Amino acid sequence: MSKTGLLRSYVISNWPVYLAAVVLIIASNVGQASLPRILGSFTDQLMQNTLQMNTVIRYSLWLLAIAIAYNLLFGTGQFMIMRLGRRFEFMTRERIFGKFSELSEHYFSKQGNGKLLSYVMNDVTSVREAISNGVTMMTNATFLLISCIVMMLLSGIPMSLILISIVPLLAIPFLVVFFGPRIRKRSRDVQDALANMTESAEEQLGGIRVTKTFAIEDGARARFGATVDAIKEKQLRLVRLSSLFQALLPLLGAISLVVSLLVGGILTMQNSITLGSFVALTLYLRIIMGPLQQIGNVINTMQRSGASLERVNDLLTEEPDVREVSGAKTLNAVNDITIEDLSFSYPGSSASALKHISLKIGAGQTVGIVGKTGSGKSTLVKLLLRTYEPPEGTIRMNGTDIRQLSLESLRSRIAYVPQDGFLFSTTIRDNIAFSDREVPLDTVERSARQAMIYDNIIRFPDQFDTLLGERGLTLSGGQRQRTSLARGLIKKAQVLILDDSMSAVDAVTESGILRSLREIGKGKTTLIISHRISAVRHADEIIVLDEGQIAEQGTHSQLMAAEGLYAATYRLQEEGLHHEGS
Ligand SMILES: Nc1ncnc2c1ncn2[C@@H]1O[C@H](COP(=O)(O)OP(=O)(O)OP(=O)(O)O)[C@@H](O)[C@H]1O
Ligand SMILES: [Mg+2]
Repeated sequence: MSKTGLLRSYVISNWPVYLAAVVLIIASNVGQASLPRILGSFTDQLMQNTLQMNTVIRYSLWLLAIAIAYNLLFGTGQFMIMRLGRRFEFMTRERIFGKFSELSEHYFSKQGNGKLLSYVMNDVTSVREAISNGVTMMTNATFLLISCIVMMLLSGIPMSLILISIVPLLAIPFLVVFFGPRIRKRSRDVQDALANMTESAEEQLGGIRVTKTFAIEDGARARFGATVDAIKEKQLRLVRLSSLFQALLPLLGAISLVVSLLVGGILTMQNSITLGSFVALTLYLRIIMGPLQQIGNVINTMQRSGASLERVNDLLTEEPDVREVSGAKTLNAVNDITIEDLSFSYPGSSASALKHISLKIGAGQTVGIVGKTGSGKSTLVKLLLRTYEPPEGTIRMNGTDIRQLSLESLRSRIAYVPQDGFLFSTTIRDNIAFSDREVPLDTVERSARQAMIYDNIIRFPDQFDTLLGERGLTLSGGQRQRTSLARGLIKKAQVLILDDSMSAVDAVTESGILRSLREIGKGKTTLIISHRISAVRHADEIIVLDEGQIAEQGTHSQLMAAEGLYAATYRLQEEGLHHEGS
């Protein structure tokens, strides 16, 4: 797609509607443009005293008919184009959103939510304005201009007089060429600054609690103030230029009116032209000023939205990092997972997050992964889910490289409870039943029990229908974590992955959850990541990650016997518990 491909393809696919609308608008202008001529001949008849009552009535009816026809035709044309504009806006927002779900985590960590929001809000609106107002006004203005000039030529006003009067208007193309690109450049600066402000506002709001506890509101305000100032500065620069441009066009119109008054007036006094012709000429020039101003407006809007259109097009043509191969296979069941010599570093980072990991996980096995913070535990999971693309041939499920699998089938086989489970601003029930909103309440309740959050929920005012987030209740960190855990447990999938999902619960609750896990985990392949050894000690196999490498591997008793990192960590944690207990 080229820089403006999005808009072009939309216009092309809707061309019959555009054509019909343009025809309607043109037709409306033809009527409009005959007005001065009618008034001119009315004046002449008035001067020649040939006017009669029925002629007056006929003229009035003409004028009325033209007014009604103009409004009907123009209104319908405008409506059609406005509707196309709104549909474009709607369609583009949907496409942008679709694109968001296609793009990988890497893209989002690079871009920042505020910037992306700005695409959906500011840029799409700006393009829509151009294609609805822009097209209507441009068509309207151009044809009104052309039909006025044609009518002028046909109306018997001497050609030389018309030419002299419209000479000042010939400067318009030069003005457009001069101002157009400059306005566009300044608009792009404004759009970029707007995106920065949205990003800054989003970040400041997200971090407002931290800001407050650190008592640095003034600093935050100053930082936000700086981004707002930057916009003001850029907007003023834009407004100065576009106002100047918009003012110059009517000025040219006024000059041509003055010329026509001077030259036309003299000619009328010399009786070279009729008074009616003179009236018609000045009326024509008067009408022309409207479209001139409109054309100025439209060029302004078009230049501005051109910048936005480019940004939206760039986004829509962004290639996702993780893509399905053509003819991707469907994963029907997961019998075993084999990881072979897996090394990985994040895009743009030189350090390896994982080094030479090899691991075999049989169907129904429970594997525990422990390791210091930053040792690569979550990275391993992200690769299993293809949040990031693992190197070719390093991860296989049932013998098939996961890069050959369809993303949908891979991800629907895995129930994953992320480390920072995000909850949506909806009811607790919908949050838990996220993978399938249709599941009955008792299934939701069972998962809540398994995640040891049931007792908390039934004490909330609306129990499972309690709203969370913006318009509802705020959960504590531990409650949030267990709700997110229930969301993972309810998903019918063969593989269950818990990334540090019990870090914010006390030891008693943890052992309750572990009991449920043994129950649910029957026949499921389970991966439990934890800092606490108590969460993994019953696993069939435990691996200890250290700086991206498998440092130790075995069952709890084997690892204890090995007297390595695992055993040392275990003793330290046990000791901590005893201290807590005493
Ligand atoms: N999106 C990312 N981009 C670049 N580097 C990353 C990214 N996510 C993690 N890392 C780096 O990769 C390394 C491993 O991170 P990872 O999140 O896998 O650790 P972890 O073992 O899950 O730690 P924790 O116990 O704190 O959750 C870290 O050094 C981290 O800085
Ligand atoms: Mg982690």
